[in-house]
Amino acid sequence: MPTGEGMKDKVVMITGAANGIGLECAKLLSQRGARLMLSDIDGSAGQRAVADLTANGCDATFFACDVTNGQAVEALVEATLAEFGQLDCAVNNAGVEHPHMKLAEHDDDEFDRAIAINLKGVYLCMKFELRAMLKQGHGAIVNLASLAGLGGAPGLGGYVASKHGVVGLTRTAALEYAKRGIRVNAVCPSFTNTDMVKRMISTDPKLERILNDASPMKRMGEPSEIANAVAYLCSDEASFTNGQALALDGGITAW
Ligand SMILES: NC(=O)c1ccc[n+]([C@@H]2O[C@H](COP(=O)([O-])OP(=O)(O)OC[C@H]3O[C@@H](n4cnc5c(N)ncnc54)[C@H](O)[C@@H]3O)[C@@H](O)[C@H]2O)c1
Repeated sequence: MPTGEGMKDKVVMITGAANGIGLECAKLLSQRGARLMLSDIDGSAGQRAVADLTANGCDATFFACDVTNGQAVEALVEATLAEFGQLDCAVNNAGVEHPHMKLAEHDDDEFDRAIAINLKGVYLCMKFELRAMLKQGHGAIVNLASLAGLGGAPGLGGYVASKHGVVGLTRTAALEYAKRGIRVNAVCPSFTNTDMVKRMISTDPKLERILNDASPMKRMGEPSEIANAVAYLCSDEASFTNGQALALDGGITAW
């Protein structure tokens, strides 16, 4: 995968950027010269992330936003344009897990929450990002789906439904705007070593071994490995890559 400076001075907006994969994307993109609008529902962690990035010379700003709130998302995109004058790339990363439960016992509120944050949040972000990108005539969007967007995952019904929705929206937007200079792709990681997975393991320590063994590589992904793929899909080096749902899974989908 290219490691060049294809992101120099590009403006990238990242949701869920205060932790985990989103934060790792911010770090990598800043190293490649991007200017960053970080956003998260967690204001204090987001401000800390921006302080670290700016201390290292990055042009970065934080804007608190709950992606389930359309007005807040619209304000986030407006704030990005006001601060940087353009929106070259967007990484729609904010997402949540839910406790393991089979469908017959699925908690309705947990199902609704997964759909509201993981799916409707991505829909709302894309809606306002696309409006800005259409005006300027170019853009690249990368959505954080999941391997659970490409196949079933027992015990994760709400999450699986939300991530299949993200893959569907990604493909649809890619087709709708391909002729307008906008590319839309998704990454589909398997289990990745972030707080999300740590929270899952904390409910059942046996899960750690199971999650590692799920991959032919016998390990989980690292957030930096996901960020590498996100940065590639954002960059001009991926200029002919559109509408893809890229599995980042150590080979699970090759079984
Ligand atoms: N970690 C994994 O194993 C894994 C695998 C596949 C896909 N993903 C996806 O990658 C993305 C990032 O996951 P992660 O592992 O870094 O999780 P994480 O829990 O470490 O970080 C998620 C971030 O999203 C923020 N967030 C949560 N709800 C929000 C909301 N309503 N509005 C704005 N921000 C909100 C959180 O505050 C947090 O900073 C998610 O979409 C997740 O579904 C993760």
